[in-house]
Amino acid sequence: MHSASAARAAPLEYLSGFGNHFATEALAGALPEGRNSPQHCAYGLYAEQLSGTAFTAPRHANRRSWLYRIRPAAVRGSFRPLAHRGLVGHFADLPAPPDPMRWSAPPLPAEPTDFVDGLLTAGGTGSSDAHAGCAIHWYLANRSMRERFFYDADAELLIVPQLGRLRVATELGVLEAVPQEIVLVPRGVRFRVELPDGEARGYVCENFGAPFKLPDLGPIGSNGLANPRDFQTPVAWYEDREGEMELVAKFGGALWSAPIDHSPLDVVAWHGNHAPCKYDLRRFNTIGSISYDHPDPSIFLVLHSVSDTPGVDNVDFVIFPPRWLTMEDTFRPPWFHRNIASEFMGLIHGVYDAKAQGFEPGGASLHNCMTGHGPDAQTFERASRADTRTPQHVTDTMAFMFETRTIIRPTPRALALPQRQADYARCWQGLARRFTPPVT
Ligand SMILES: [Fe+2]
Repeated sequence: MHSASAARAAPLEYLSGFGNHFATEALAGALPEGRNSPQHCAYGLYAEQLSGTAFTAPRHANRRSWLYRIRPAAVRGSFRPLAHRGLVGHFADLPAPPDPMRWSAPPLPAEPTDFVDGLLTAGGTGSSDAHAGCAIHWYLANRSMRERFFYDADAELLIVPQLGRLRVATELGVLEAVPQEIVLVPRGVRFRVELPDGEARGYVCENFGAPFKLPDLGPIGSNGLANPRDFQTPVAWYEDREGEMELVAKFGGALWSAPIDHSPLDVVAWHGNHAPCKYDLRRFNTIGSISYDHPDPSIFLVLHSVSDTPGVDNVDFVIFPPRWLTMEDTFRPPWFHRNIASEFMGLIHGVYDAKAQGFEPGGASLHNCMTGHGPDAQTFERASRADTRTPQHVTDTMAFMFETRTIIRPTPRALALPQRQADYARCWQGLARRFTPPVT
């Protein structure tokens, strides 16, 4: 067996920008010049293209990277089905009650559980076969992946840590993320998740549709919301390591396991724009009203997966960060509403300003298409009495939403979780009749 030379420390160096065409090499000269697939690559590397969009996608939407690696991805054993307790990959036939739903934070596991084993599907919509919709999971883990690697052929992964740091070692480099940062792993990219703090909890949006991109800004102009320069993509890094290892694939809604005799994180150099990245949500440039009323919450859009219908997204990733509220003579918390979109919310940090209690970090809520919701009775009373002639600083908060165009169907496991708050809808029942018609 070839001796391991994996002692090289992974550099935590990043390239700045979103969707840029990056070029990076861990060994000088590993990137070929002038062509993508030369007859002989430097150092005896193999050239391999990883495409994330159709070859003929328009240039502005086209995603692909060229990888220069020790072995091609084709070198591995055969896949067998891998059983999983918490993962659901098909949603079409799941009943979806139109009730508002809320969950307290699911607990961390008692048994040793890594990122893949610790996935717990909350719900989903659409299908990987149709390249439309998404699945939404919690991850609940207390063990690093070691000789185990994962890739998702069904989806791009948007990982939202809530508790504990993540070290995500990918084929294209290493990302470290703390809560309030997000990690985006493109479809097909192989990676391993390590837990520097020994345990971790968070959320994952498995985006079956078009890759997430930054929204156009329209009248906002050339700056604002999530700025491209704040996205960080790792520099090339590789490990040259052999042994008995496992490659897990999410494919066709199910998990599969194959033996592999080497680390697939063996890409010495790469160039392209189908690449992982991370982003610190605290860098979001939040925009809001400075006169009266609220803009729609689309003003909080970080990233979106567009659909075939202009203006109607497959998935929106929206955040509710700390901000100043300055609107005069306005009910300042999010108002009562019913939307055509379906909304899955999570809380990463602090307190969410539309709910007095019950929505806790690591928990979640689901308000599906046309399900009425909004501030609870306590928040309504407080905000109705607030002095709106003075600004209010909303601090110590970071909530997010995965919003979809079609109904998010909760899984039977999520519906039965002991953390589901059966009395959630009661938070609005204290909203008394306040109607005072003129006496005639
Ligand atoms: Fe909502």
